[in-house]
Amino acid sequence: MTTPIIKSLQQWTTTEHAPFYTPGHKHGWGMGAEFTELLQTAGLKFDLPEIPGLDNLAAPSGAIAESQNLAAQTFGATHTRYLVNGTSGGVMAAILATCQPGDQILLPRNIHRSIIAGLIHSGAVPIFVQPEYVPELDIAHSITPESIAFALEQYPQIKAIMVVAPTYYGVCGDLAAMAGIAHQQGIPLLVDAAHGAHLGFHPDLPPSALALGADLVIQSTHKTLGALTQAAMLHVQGDLIDMGRVDRCLQIIQTSSPSYLLLASLDSAQAQMATYGRELLDRTLALTQKARSELSNIPNLLVLDLARTQPGCRYFDPTRLTITTTGLGYSGYEADTILCDQYKVVAEMPSQRHLTFIISIGNREWDLEMLVAGMRGLAQQASAEIAPITEGAADWQAPLITTPAITPRSAFFAALETVPIEQVVDRISAELVCPYPPGIPVLIPGEIVTKQSIGYLQDILASGGDVVGNSDPTLHHLQVVKE
Ligand SMILES: Cc1ncc(COP(=O)(O)O)c(C=O)c1O
Repeated sequence: MTTPIIKSLQQWTTTEHAPFYTPGHKHGWGMGAEFTELLQTAGLKFDLPEIPGLDNLAAPSGAIAESQNLAAQTFGATHTRYLVNGTSGGVMAAILATCQPGDQILLPRNIHRSIIAGLIHSGAVPIFVQPEYVPELDIAHSITPESIAFALEQYPQIKAIMVVAPTYYGVCGDLAAMAGIAHQQGIPLLVDAAHGAHLGFHPDLPPSALALGADLVIQSTHKTLGALTQAAMLHVQGDLIDMGRVDRCLQIIQTSSPSYLLLASLDSAQAQMATYGRELLDRTLALTQKARSELSNIPNLLVLDLARTQPGCRYFDPTRLTITTTGLGYSGYEADTILCDQYKVVAEMPSQRHLTFIISIGNREWDLEMLVAGMRGLAQQASAEIAPITEGAADWQAPLITTPAITPRSAFFAALETVPIEQVVDRISAELVCPYPPGIPVLIPGEIVTKQSIGYLQDILASGGDVVGNSDPTLHHLQVVKE
């Protein structure tokens, strides 16, 4: 009997380390007590299907319906639906529910790949708006209300707006103003809030997207709260969303065998946040602030702090910690390897210049102490031997508003050919290629390939990052639409 997955899990979980990655419960420390006990005592006994006495996620009328209603109250929605395929499933269903084939949808360009999957399913036409990019940080924020208003003038037929808030870096755009603009046009504002399930539960955190007027919000409960990986929620308010259609779309996208383990963890998360949300986040924020101030005193490290409003950044989530490591002479990828191997601190996301850490209700004081000690060690090690890196990745920028040459759906179903990478510029990409994490595509099916996008991906591979989605993992070839 060979069980490589089980072996690797056993190995990983027996090595003690400070976790700053998802899920938010961090090895169970932040999981609701009742659910933890149930898992420990009953375990596999409650891995059950829709048998009499239990409920049915596709047509809930009992315990699932009741729990979803409680979650709606806790998170400030009119309707809540539990998701067992992450925010990814919710995003796809949201696009399918609001766009017909050929309908235009306004999107920021720094979207998660699940939105592209939603475009392929629905046949909707993306109108991309460039997010505010800060070159000195090499970080893209949100799009602005002004750029949304401008895009709506150019494309008055747009049927829905979907934005990402917060971004992977914890940045939220001005959602209240965006909702105002959308509602003036009579169209809904949909928010991919994969990283924002904890927002709105504490005055020192950004308000939730629902509180700011969004019509449909999808949150990865598993990323920042106490729920199992894949467990997420879709919330709706107002009268611009047809809930019956959302339900039909969820049935198309999600499995017909949802796991009760996932559903029970969502039940646990809604109760935990209703009862202890403020208290848990008080503690998390206190730990975060202490670590932030200690990290800020380490020479040559830059700790991202966007306390002041700037274009594309109306609110900032301080529990999302991004540290620029290039001042030490390390790329984010190199720093990640050293921190993990030598200091037993595991980040959520390395990038060319930064390391991003998720601090959640599951993190203990010990984790934060390990983080500060690890960064101090890294800084001491670095100053002895290495010169700071001043160059970042090749900037990857595009005009304010772009639309692909053909829809992602047409490119997905088109006849394809595989071409050497030296010959792909100006061809139409058939592949969705993105650095992972964060899973934000650099190449999208239907878009013209540019020299900059290929250079950017090659830089990432060369500096040790992962690029996914490409049929040739070395990126020597790319699939393009046949001419
Ligand atoms: C911005 C954004 N949206 C959506 C997703 C997908 O979330 P999930 O993993 O819950 O499917 C992610 C995942 O990292 C993300 O970063």
